[in-house]
This record gives sequence, structure tokens and C-alpha cells, in this order.
Amino acid sequence: MSEAGLTRPPPVLAIDGPGGAGKGAVSRLVAGRLGWHLLDSGALYRLVALDARQRGLGFEAEQALAELAARLDARFQSQGDQTRILLNGLDVTEAIRSEAAGDGASRVAAVPGVRQSLVERQRQFRQLPGLVADGRDMGGVIFPDAALKVFLTASLEERALRRHKQLKDKGIDVSLSALSRDMVERDRRDSARAIAPLKACDDARILDTTGMDVPAVVAIVLEWVAERVVP
Ligand code: C5P
Repeated sequence: MSEAGLTRPPPVLAIDGPGGAGKGAVSRLVAGRLGWHLLDSGALYRLVALDARQRGLGFEAEQALAELAARLDARFQSQGDQTRILLNGLDVTEAIRSEAAGDGASRVAAVPGVRQSLVERQRQFRQLPGLVADGRDMGGVIFPDAALKVFLTASLEERALRRHKQLKDKGIDVSLSALSRDMVERDRRDSARAIAPLKACDDARILDTTGMDVPAVVAIVLEWVAERVVP
């Protein structure tokens, strides 16, 4: 076999699960501890939704949305342990975190052509020494050969409380009951879509984070990585 044939692709840790399960914070911290790259795949769907809105494109314009996703002018710039996100050259790091952007993201994410347009772009994040990939379909679709697949979940009540606190910390005021309703609706849309629906892969390790804080979850995930990925 040639030398190239023996080269293994960089390892991937896939972290999937519903909104508010703690994927974002856990993925960032785990990537930092391992010194690996980070893919925030939800940000890509949020960017497509924001770009579409800025261009006046409706969610029913599926072909145009897929083309827009294929040409998305997005850049992720690391600044210390933070990442600034640019869309068409403008900083939208905060703008894409609003509930409206999240709602838009889950609508464009149900369009098969949009998902297809983003597949290669997500795979390009796989670089040495490794990648922590945060999303809904990281283990199932984008990186089926991930070295470790983790599915993080938590009770609806706790996920809504966490999201509420996150938004409040950013100065965004939204009622807990409205947030909880939106979350149920978004979970339903993410789980019911025909392509890449949100669900745990058969080979994923499931971690219910209800009642756990972020450092506790990070510690468990790092233990699993040590067992399975970095022998
Ligand atoms: O994770 P985040 O809340 O940023 O994701 C926003 C939306 O993007 C999700 O509700 C989901 O509909 C969609 N998404 C997806 N596949 C991914 C990541 C996010 O469909 N890999």
C-alpha cells in the first residue's frame, strides 16, 4: 500500500444534540483543552438565514437558498478563545445569536439543497491535529467516521432555562414560556425534517446533562476522548 494510503484523516469528535443541551460551551472548552479545531455548524445555518433575510429571500425560495448557501461569504476569525464571525465582510457574531436567527436557521436547515451546499464546507474544517464538530448531524451525516460521537441532551425545562440565561446575559429579554414554546417547535422541526433529522446515531454515547454544570460535562467528554480517541 502507498504511504498516502496509510495516512489517517485527522480525528473528529462529533457532538450532536438539541438546542440548549450545552453543545456550544462544551465543544468550545473541549476543543480548547485538546488544542483541536472547532466547527460550529449551527452558525453556518444561522448565517444562511441572515444572508437570506438581508437579500429579501423567503424560506420558500429553495433553489435560491441552496445557491446562496453554496456561495456563502462567511469567515471565522479566532481571537484568543473567542471566534468573530464575518458575513459579507461584516461582523455578525452577536446578530446571529438572536432567537429570530435561530428560528430562521432551523427553517433553512430543512431545505435539502441548503444542507447539501454546506457538506463540503463543513468537511474542510477537518484538519490536524483534530476537530470538535458541534451540530445536529455531525456523527450521522458529515463525519460518519468520527472517532467518538457524543449526543448531549437535557430536559426541555432545563434547556429553556439555560437558553433564557444565555440570552439575558447578552441583554436580550424574552419570556421563558415563549422561549420554551419556540424550543418545542424548533425541536419538532429539526426532528421531523426529511433530511438529516435530529437523532442520536446508533454508535453515539448519550449524555443527559440535566442537573450538570458545564465543567462536569467537559470532564466526562474528555474522559471518553482519552479512552476512545487518544489511546
Ligand atoms: O446549534 P444552533 O442553535 O446554532 O443551530 C441553529 C439551527 O440550525 C438548529 O435549530 C438546526 O435547525 C440547524 N442545524 C442543523 N444542523 C446542524 C446544526 C444546526 O440543522 N448541524
